[in-house]
Amino acid sequence: MCDLEKCIELLLTRRSIRRFKDEEVSLDIVKKILDITRYAPSAKNRQPWEFIIVSDHSIKDKLSRIHLGARPLARAPLGLVVVCDNEIAPESYQVDCANAAMYIMLAAHALGLGTVWIQTLRNTREIQEILGLPPNKIPIAILAIGWPAENPAPKPRKTLKDLVHINKYGNKLL
Ligand SMILES: Cc1cc2nc3c(=O)[nH]c(=O)nc-3n(C[C@H](O)[C@H](O)[C@H](O)COP(=O)(O)O)c2cc1C
Repeated sequence: MCDLEKCIELLLTRRSIRRFKDEEVSLDIVKKILDITRYAPSAKNRQPWEFIIVSDHSIKDKLSRIHLGARPLARAPLGLVVVCDNEIAPESYQVDCANAAMYIMLAAHALGLGTVWIQTLRNTREIQEILGLPPNKIPIAILAIGWPAENPAPKPRKTLKDLVHINKYGNKLL
């Protein structure tokens, strides 16, 4: 286990990074991140995920144009696509693979890299076509990944008072 304060700091200091240095991210570091990601939890341990490392500029460029919010991909040296099999885990594939995406973001942050999650769920077909995915392989997230060239302030968060109930919905804890 990491030092308690360091572990908590890791969780509290992750930010979505949308601007990246013009510096390479080595395949070794990506493999390290994905090796850690294999330990994400999944229902019945089905591990319905696979990953596509997108380094090819023209493919990354196509992905960066699927919607306006995908633009950070054009500025990132790499994209990492989390692909999930909806036949292996029909009821849980989306949440299983969201866990994997979160592991990627946290492992990358621990290694000093920045990421931002690029929404995919409204563009499934288009992404499947760009990446040559069969119909049962659903792209759940694309992570733009690179060395951070910005240090954004934390985004506002709802308070515990807004969020926490005890025993039954409506019984606010605070
Ligand atoms: C499911 C999901 C989809 C997201 N899609 C996008 C996106 O398409 N483009 C983008 O720039 N950020 C996207 N984000 C990043 C969120 O905007 C960001 O996590 C949120 O504003 C909180 O900021 P933080 O990550 O810095 O804490 C997405 C995040 C999630 C979890």
